[in-house]
Amino acid sequence: MSETGFIELRGVHKSFGANHVLRGIDVTIRPSEIFTMLGGSGSGKSVSLKHMIGLLHPDRGCVFVAGREVTDLSEEEWVDVRRRIGFVFQGAALFDSLSVYENVAYGLREHRRWPEERVTARVAECLEAVGLEDTEWLMPAELSGGMRKRVGVARAIALEPEAILYDEPTTGLDPANAGRIGELIRSLQERLRVTSVVVTHDLALCFAISHRVALLKDGHLVAEGSVEEMRRSRNADVREFLAGRAEGVSAPSTGETAHGA
Ligand SMILES: Nc1ncnc2c1ncn2[C@@H]1O[C@H](COP(=O)(O)OP(=O)(O)OP(=O)(O)O)[C@@H](O)[C@H]1O
Ligand SMILES: [Mg+2]
Repeated sequence: MSETGFIELRGVHKSFGANHVLRGIDVTIRPSEIFTMLGGSGSGKSVSLKHMIGLLHPDRGCVFVAGREVTDLSEEEWVDVRRRIGFVFQGAALFDSLSVYENVAYGLREHRRWPEERVTARVAECLEAVGLEDTEWLMPAELSGGMRKRVGVARAIALEPEAILYDEPTTGLDPANAGRIGELIRSLQERLRVTSVVVTHDLALCFAISHRVALLKDGHLVAEGSVEEMRRSRNADVREFLAGRAEGVSAPSTGETAHGA
């Protein structure tokens, strides 16, 4: 592998039955960058992301994290690797029966034997980082969609990961809340130098935050480059994807509509 990637997929193939989803994915996520993977629904974005954290394993090809090959690690060994990588699931995936506090504390309880005061302090810090201070005792059902996503981010940063993977972090949010999530991703990267992988079909988000962008189609990464390179690309797949999703693209706003934090 090259020496520059924090996460790398090399020649990764993945099928589910007859559905050959990934057909040789090569991607290098550089340390401290925001790398965005675009692609239509069902193109394999979530499947790619799950390979980076060992929730799925390749049929063929290799996965590297922090210079170590992790392709064939046991489930036990993956636990150590996952501690270094936060995952913001598609749809936030909070535990609905647990308070915001317990949702954010979840990983800390799994991985750290901390006294409760220390957990409390860390939960408060993470909630503050996402602009949700003093929401500890709310239940997920009492949160707006944007707040749920931000609790998902707070949970992902609790263990101070070196990388965070975001699966569709803005889906279902209005432009103001989507913009706020984009700013959060950017500020975590800038303040903590977190390596960030964002999977989305939200072009506005992609253009606002990405250092590099790739387009996934038919099981391959068909194009890769900076935002400017993608915007100027003559690649037919890129043109088609951008044209198909151009409507509604605008700079992210800083405002928050309902449920302002
Ligand atoms: N665990 C699984 N078992 C069987 N098929 C799966 C599984 N996970 C994903 N797939 C299939 O793999 C393909 C890619 O799925 P994936 O979830 O990666 O799409 P996506 O690009 O994330 O789409 P979306 O934008 O809708 O989230 C789909 O055809 C899906 O049905
Ligand atoms: Mg998905």
